[in-house]
Amino acid sequence: MESGKQLTGTLALAVFTAALGSLQYGYSLGVINAPQKVIEHHYERSLGLLPEDHFDLSLNSTQPVHPSVVMYWSLSVSIFSIGGVVSSFLVGFVGDLRGRVRGMLMVNILAIIAGLLMGLANIWKAHIMVIAGRCVMGFYCGLSSGLVPMYIGEIAPMAYRGALGTLHQLAIVTGILLSQVLGLDFLLGNAYYWPVLLGLSGAPAVLQSLLLPFCPESPRFLYIKRGMVEEAKNSLRRLKGEYDPSQDLEEMRSEKEQLEKEAQVSIAVLVRSSFYRQQLFVALMMHFSQQFSGINAIFYYSTSIFETAGVTQPVYATIGVGVINTIFTMVSVALVDRVGRRTLTLIGLGGMCVCAVAMTVGLVYLSAYSWMSYVSMSAIFLFVCFFEIGPGPIPWFIVAELFSQGPRPAAIALAGCTNWTSNFIIGMTFPYIEVLCGPYVFVLFAVLLFGFTVFTYLRVPETKGKTFEEIAAVFHKGRKPGSKTADTGTSNELEQLKSDSHA
Ligand code: GLC
Repeated sequence: MESGKQLTGTLALAVFTAALGSLQYGYSLGVINAPQKVIEHHYERSLGLLPEDHFDLSLNSTQPVHPSVVMYWSLSVSIFSIGGVVSSFLVGFVGDLRGRVRGMLMVNILAIIAGLLMGLANIWKAHIMVIAGRCVMGFYCGLSSGLVPMYIGEIAPMAYRGALGTLHQLAIVTGILLSQVLGLDFLLGNAYYWPVLLGLSGAPAVLQSLLLPFCPESPRFLYIKRGMVEEAKNSLRRLKGEYDPSQDLEEMRSEKEQLEKEAQVSIAVLVRSSFYRQQLFVALMMHFSQQFSGINAIFYYSTSIFETAGVTQPVYATIGVGVINTIFTMVSVALVDRVGRRTLTLIGLGGMCVCAVAMTVGLVYLSAYSWMSYVSMSAIFLFVCFFEIGPGPIPWFIVAELFSQGPRPAAIALAGCTNWTSNFIIGMTFPYIEVLCGPYVFVLFAVLLFGFTVFTYLRVPETKGKTFEEIAAVFHKGRKPGSKTADTGTSNELEQLKSDSHA
């Protein structure tokens, strides 16, 4: 889509509107950390462990928490990821059902229900209301974390595909930061306002629902999936302004032709197909490395990590991480279409690996030299900076770039599921690993990060400035799908794929 490089107001509105879904995802990721003590206290009352009228605002933190409260609390945190794991499988189905825009509109009902359940937590049993709300919200976020990059990837002009794709992550980190700030106890993270704090996670869905009717449907969906040429042209004009859309239409036409050869690729077919194996491996590994880099160990447990590192005001250090996180995602927005996805991922993963080693040195020698706390602190901040320039934002949009229209929804669903499952595993296991490994806990991530850096160097291609067809060709050198000159093995594989998908 090289012709029509301009960024129009409608394109900006469409990207902004879609990214509200990502804001909501980030907010929900971050919101649960700060008000833990206050909410646990409410659970004690709703579970009947304290009298209904007991209202201890001093929240004596030395008081041991009842085991059933601990259990309901961990469920409130983790059920969000379980909802996401399940629903991420449905992204392709929802996106293809009535289109990307209607898909996003439809799923907003879930976010609004979830917001209401949590916002009204005090009217019934708080623990049940919150757990139900978090589950529905996770289900919503699993869908939106796939639908948003899919839509943005499809409407973005090629020259800005990276920058606009990175806005998904920018909105996520803004959501995390917003929730960290609003979660301060003198704002909403207190005994009176915590339901408002949690309930607000549904608010972006209301705004998004009002704006979505003004957003054009993805021209690629209209043309390639539905064969609606005139509608696709209109959409292109709305997104790019008055220009000659013939080059874009030509590109979509050839992708449609290929799609007709491939037929619809379901998740099961994609997993079994040897034709897409390399692409799929790269896509899933990128999501796997994003999560197993250990980033969420920092986000979920930063306060306790900062405490261990000897920081006196850990809550503010955590907000500092949120700020750095947002700033460096902006750096990535500026760099990604110039420097490229592969280079930024390599620099990011390599830098994180060095930081993980530095963090370990800092933690191990903390008792011997007090200044080591500065080493750990700086290493944590730099770890986040490196994450956000590449490994954070890039996996989210590169999947849409690596696959053509046929397998794209299934690939996004699988990648999303890998992301959510890995996120869940890290969230659940990190506290135990921390106890087991003590100050050496980040050695584990350093080793993994080293492996991911090598993998990226060897296997991840550059996608910057390439059309979707050119990217696919990188993986199928000498085996151009469907062409008469393609090697016969490839044509057979395509035939096989087609019959599999009809089976
Ligand atoms: C990415 C990750 C998410 C993480 C966030 C931190 O979006 O997918 O799990 O919390 O970055 O900025």
